[in-house]
Amino acid sequence: MNERSTLKIDEKGHLRIGGADALDLAARFGTPLYVMDEQYIRDMCAAYRTAIEEEYGGNGLVLYASKAFCCTAVYKIVQSEGVGADVVSGGELYTARRAGFPAEKIYLHGNNKLRRELEEAADYGVTVVADAYSELDMLDEICAEKGKILNVLLRVNPGVEAHTHHYIQTAKTDSKFGFSVEGGAAMDFARYALQKKHIALQGFHSHIGSQIFELHSFRLAADKLLSFMADVKNTLGFEAAQLNLGGGFGIWYTDEDAVQSVSDYAAGLKSILREVKEQAAAKGLRAPFLLVEPGRSVVGEAGVTLYTVGAVKDIPGVKKYAAVDGGMFANPRYALYQAKYTAVLAGRAREKATERVSIAGKCCESGDIVCADVQLPPARRGDILAVLSTGAYNYSMASNYNRNLVPPVVLVKDGQADYIVKPQSYEDLVRNDAVPARLR
Ligand SMILES: Cc1ncc(COP(=O)(O)O)c(C=O)c1O
Repeated sequence: MNERSTLKIDEKGHLRIGGADALDLAARFGTPLYVMDEQYIRDMCAAYRTAIEEEYGGNGLVLYASKAFCCTAVYKIVQSEGVGADVVSGGELYTARRAGFPAEKIYLHGNNKLRRELEEAADYGVTVVADAYSELDMLDEICAEKGKILNVLLRVNPGVEAHTHHYIQTAKTDSKFGFSVEGGAAMDFARYALQKKHIALQGFHSHIGSQIFELHSFRLAADKLLSFMADVKNTLGFEAAQLNLGGGFGIWYTDEDAVQSVSDYAAGLKSILREVKEQAAAKGLRAPFLLVEPGRSVVGEAGVTLYTVGAVKDIPGVKKYAAVDGGMFANPRYALYQAKYTAVLAGRAREKATERVSIAGKCCESGDIVCADVQLPPARRGDILAVLSTGAYNYSMASNYNRNLVPPVVLVKDGQADYIVKPQSYEDLVRNDAVPARLR
């Protein structure tokens, strides 16, 4: 387990998160329950921000990729740490605005933004990361109507795709995102954007993948993007002011992943920033205003989900299942891509893990597994089970499948715990149901 000051096992063998005993949290708030450690989120934001200050003269901005975990309180936390926000829908933009997030620190993404979303972006004055010709047309039209000029980045593909410890280089990337640098598609897209009167092109964006531990792949992508920026300068006479390298820093889920401290993340970002500075100088470019968009690494390890064990089923010679009161409605990542997690019994966390079990959810799908083949002490009905590193892409991907209630989220700091997302009720489930007159 990746123990640290705000996530540890105490002398009673209980898991403590942000100074609170996980068993007390489960008793007070019920399960399933998402628990978020405020200090970890703050420390990660501060680490990335200071890396830019120390290594890059503050000429940049960290954008928290809020798709990882989005709610009003988290925007307030990251904003107070001097971090901006990457939003990817009108809903995320609305939440960020409601939280009082300043427009100049918001970047709107998406491979198919709706006209309505672009109008909202123009109204609020955020930067748009454009990913289609039709989007540039729509945005130019909207801004002309509103008498505005909007800052825009273009999503491009440097031909580096990275996942975990592997990366590949491709000439043409098969992806719904971005325009390839190789072959000229990105250059054509830039040429087109520069003709638009109500768009102020600021630069380029790329995102090479997620859960990446191999820093070399980020440096390689930066090299390729800076070469592209030099080509754009020579060909189109446009020198980009901004470069956004996206997110993707990997986190610890199981002992197959490296344990990284907060300062390891800062050191990793610094090495990328050094590369950007050196390559920009070598290519005769001004060092661009540099953006990065970490999501998972800011909130992932800050999150723990608490469940109560229910039915335990041993299929002799096959497998043991322990079912919990959650499932794919609260964490669909196993069902989506067989994501791996570490689980502990929150009240018996020091007990020897003698059994291999799969933690099943309560949904009517055989693929509804929370985590497969984890090592645990024998789990019994009523045990509180904690699944670690669930802060990213759990709550944000939750649904009401089988009309289960999306669990609430509590934020813990110095032993104090408060809701940041309140519990749903059955009434919430039927709130938007409508019954046509002929059915009444
Ligand atoms: C454009 C973009 N930026 C940032 C991120 C955040 O990535 P991560 O959560 O891996 O840091 C993503 C994730 O999909 C993304 O698509």
